[in-house]
Amino acid sequence: MLALTFSLVACGSTSEAPNRSGGGTTSGGSPNVGGSGSAGSATGEVPTWHQDIAPLVAERCAGCHQDGGIAPFSLQTYEQAKMWSPTFDAPLRAGTMPPFLARETDDCQPRFGFKDDPRLSASQVELFKRWNDAGCPEGDAELAAPVPQPAELDLADADLEVKIPASVTIEGSADKFICFSLAPDFTPLKSTGPEAALLGDRVLIDGAQVHPGNAAIVHHVLVYTDSAGKSAQLAGEKGYYDCFGGPQLDSPGLLMAWAPGATPVTAPAGVAMALPSTGRIVMQVHYHPSGAPQVDDSTSVQLRGYRAGIPDYIGTLTLIGNARGPMANGMGLQAGPSDSTSAPEFRIPAGAVDHTESMLLPLPRAQADYKLWAVGSHMHYVGTDMRIGITRAVAGDEPAEECLLATPRWDFNWQRGYLLDVPIDQAPSAKGGDVFNLRCTYDNSMGNPFVQNALAEQGLSAPRDVRLGEETLDEMCLGIFGIAQKVSDLLK
Ligand code: HEC
Repeated sequence: MLALTFSLVACGSTSEAPNRSGGGTTSGGSPNVGGSGSAGSATGEVPTWHQDIAPLVAERCAGCHQDGGIAPFSLQTYEQAKMWSPTFDAPLRAGTMPPFLARETDDCQPRFGFKDDPRLSASQVELFKRWNDAGCPEGDAELAAPVPQPAELDLADADLEVKIPASVTIEGSADKFICFSLAPDFTPLKSTGPEAALLGDRVLIDGAQVHPGNAAIVHHVLVYTDSAGKSAQLAGEKGYYDCFGGPQLDSPGLLMAWAPGATPVTAPAGVAMALPSTGRIVMQVHYHPSGAPQVDDSTSVQLRGYRAGIPDYIGTLTLIGNARGPMANGMGLQAGPSDSTSAPEFRIPAGAVDHTESMLLPLPRAQADYKLWAVGSHMHYVGTDMRIGITRAVAGDEPAEECLLATPRWDFNWQRGYLLDVPIDQAPSAKGGDVFNLRCTYDNSMGNPFVQNALAEQGLSAPRDVRLGEETLDEMCLGIFGIAQKVSDLLK
């Protein structure tokens, strides 16, 4: 439906990308004069659908751009790709499609790449443009290049699948955040081997995958462990409760973050994730309405038990950040540009543009060494840019200062965890005395479309001061860290 409201120009010219935040009201763009005609010639052969474009679209776009998928239009056939091709260049060049927020920047050059990085190279962006400028030739089906199999979205050998306990109907135009409280029977995951005694009431898994019950509205899902089972009260008989910033538990453990098109999350080789086998699981589902009312009654999470005996490492995802104030030795929240109190305060003044909050978060001295295998950033709608780094107390073979992740064009809708593409033994270390540093940048003005939307949803027309909290108009500055500890250290 959305598709019909875009007015498109034919291949051979380029049109501006439809407005990302405008939903169904977009009217399409005007042809971009600079784009048309000339290319295709200088760079050799003219690309065609069958030989060049189809494999790339299947691999990098069709996971979302498919019938019933989360994207507003499908790119599965030549006809569809040809129709939409004039709109590709701007988002591809800007790097907003495919969505992936991690970036190398002037002050952040991570040492390792990320797994499942879908970003297009400059020459691939150019290939799409040359194809469009040449009039989107179909080419010869007889000579078609092999189209890669769509990524396997099922977790192989899953032992357990837990479904949301209730059905919800999503309508209207505002995004909804719903926490479902689940009480899985972990029996299939319980270890019977020699490690069972060492684990106590924990189970080990090495893979997890979310399956959206309705791909048209499930935008992203965070899966938490709730060892005390508090979510049962919050959810009541209904089985779910509204939650925007998090599951509202005292010390939730994050189990996985899932976004559309994502392949199963598997721990690096040699690493098993431990979770409490007694408590509950909370699935926080972010629903993005699609126009007509839509139902979700089957979003689920699959888990796979770790089977290789005693792992080398035990992994967890921890959330570190959201410092409310200063801590001893100059740690904690740092003084900011517009603090109104003598001690540092977390306050983003109404109207502030490029406001930063920084925090230093030391790792306790006594703890064992960590290896870092994943990292992610988390803010709400006012956030625009986040950087996560580590300062090492003792620089051995590793840099004393290292940037782990920059997400300089933060977009709440595309948050995810980034898995480091490196074997666990060579992954960055984080030891007692090392300090994680977070820098979050915010735009609390009407010039930030996310702020504008969030205010409008609350019936407000002007920004107000923003502080730390869980609500839509509160903010966060939170790092997600996939850490792993050597089992031999844990046994010491
Ligand atoms: C992870 C899911 C996903 C992947 C992968 C993806 N898209 Fe999108 N795309 C979307 C969604 C969702 C939208 C709707 C706008 C939004 O929510 O940002 C969109 C919108 C677009 C638009 C409209 C303009 C805009 O920026 O909103 C274009 C053009 C586009 N995608 C092209 C592509 C191409 C080409 C690829 C592959 C190279 C691709 N997309 C890969 C999810 C995806």
